[in-house]
Amino acid sequence: MADPFYLTTAIHYPNGKPHIGHAYETIAADVLARFHRLMGRDVRFQTGTDEHGLKMAQKARDLGKTPRELADEMSGHFRDLFDKLDIKYDRFIRTTDDDHYRASQAIWQAMEANGDLYLDRYEGWYSVRDEAYYAESELIEGEGGEKLSPQGTPVEWTEEETWFFRLSAYSDKLLALYEENPDFIRPESRRNEVMRFVEGGLRDLSVSRTSFDWGVPVPGSEGHVMYVWVDALTNYLTGLGYPDDTPEMAKYWPADLHLVGKDITRFHTVYWPAFLMSAGIALPKQVYAHGFLLNKGQKESKSLGNVTDPAELIEAYGVDVLRYFLLREFSFGQDGSYSHEAIVNRANSELANSFGNLAQRVMSFIAKNCDGAITAEAPVEQVDDQLRARVRQACAVELPGQFEKLAFAAGLEAWMQAVYACNAYVDEQAPWALRKTDPERMKRVLATLCGCIRDLAVAVAPVIPAASEKILDALTIPSEQRDYAALSANDPSMGTITVENPKPVFPRLELPAGEGGQ
Ligand code: ME8
Ligand code: MG
Repeated sequence: MADPFYLTTAIHYPNGKPHIGHAYETIAADVLARFHRLMGRDVRFQTGTDEHGLKMAQKARDLGKTPRELADEMSGHFRDLFDKLDIKYDRFIRTTDDDHYRASQAIWQAMEANGDLYLDRYEGWYSVRDEAYYAESELIEGEGGEKLSPQGTPVEWTEEETWFFRLSAYSDKLLALYEENPDFIRPESRRNEVMRFVEGGLRDLSVSRTSFDWGVPVPGSEGHVMYVWVDALTNYLTGLGYPDDTPEMAKYWPADLHLVGKDITRFHTVYWPAFLMSAGIALPKQVYAHGFLLNKGQKESKSLGNVTDPAELIEAYGVDVLRYFLLREFSFGQDGSYSHEAIVNRANSELANSFGNLAQRVMSFIAKNCDGAITAEAPVEQVDDQLRARVRQACAVELPGQFEKLAFAAGLEAWMQAVYACNAYVDEQAPWALRKTDPERMKRVLATLCGCIRDLAVAVAPVIPAASEKILDALTIPSEQRDYAALSANDPSMGTITVENPKPVFPRLELPAGEGGQ
């Protein structure tokens, strides 16, 4: 039986259209899902939209719509974008789905049965933009002297009767969890941040609202809807059929990985494990908080007028280029700054001129000069062996080792070095010249290269699935030889290689007009 692997993204607020940060997180999750599938694991991958709360209610009111209408419209944009990005999820959850109400109410009742919920009056600060409560001591001062959340968002004073969750009772258990499971929070910088926060002592958390009604009703407590983060976090269970004892719950829970952005670490590493402990449910194995994408060094915002529509980037550069760029350019746990120039440079130098060019010149040479097929009979020389070993090491060992740790940029760096080694080998061995002088040696060189191209295309398939598939199709690699196990089990250069209709997969890109292009 294949090892199960359950991973999730954060669920996105559909209070507007998806932005580049949403694309970034979901692409990374899809790359991981595809990677684990190619490692032979039984993967389940969930994403979706987080549709309740005050932020949604206020935005809908401003637009003269119901929250449900706004959610329906915007959730559709997320789904469309994810289709365009080649995201292959198993469930796209909407927190307005019926089964989600049931799951949220069930976890609520489990926490209540454990004695962790009580009614009281909340008086304190709330940020609608963050959908978060903050202590006075956490607030910072804005330029006009106004109080702001630590994230720099406006806060409002709130007083209402609410249910509280006894979070204060979980400080020690949470600290023990972090101590005993150093990988529970990744990367390390986030782990330290959360530990300092919990060591500072936890206050009980307000978990219901009475001043508006756009949320999951609190069971048996009229006028109360759940605080949006209670239902939002529960989505990870809903998708597996909780509270029923489904085969999916048995197979995929606890989740292997919740992938989230660094701004929502506290919800996932403090509130969520405390809710689960209270409800008697096993804890996820890891929460990984990735960095933020910045547009030429700045946070995108409507007021700065620098919001990029990810659909336009796909239009301009293609999906595979965008996916590759986002994972290759930045260290995943850290913030990164992108620009059109950086995308074009990376795509041209690494995809078009290096990998694409390698695949195309080798395959088109075989198509044109060898009737589309070669069988190498000349002995394998040391240089051939060395190249094969080098490429196999990068593709079957180094890239997978880095991807397991979510170190995508480092994995792709190892892969790229192997591509460069292949191009250096082509230049040294000059198969085009061997055609006249030593046609048997030429075949051996081409076969060696085809074996390498197969390995490189399989290894990078999670990142650039469409391009990889085109190259593997042109090399006529059977479908069962397109995973990581095949890289060590089988070497196409030892048999007959047939090439069918190879076409360049990465066109050379130009900067769009207005971005320094013509
Ligand atoms: O936080 N760069 O939703 P959200 C990288 N509904 N990642 C970014 C980003 C950026 N510029 N901007 C946002 C929510 N993100 C909640 C989550 S989960 C139970 C509920 C990331 O739409 C952000 O960190 O504001 C989060 O992981 C995801 O996009 C959705 O953000
Ligand atoms: Mg946000």
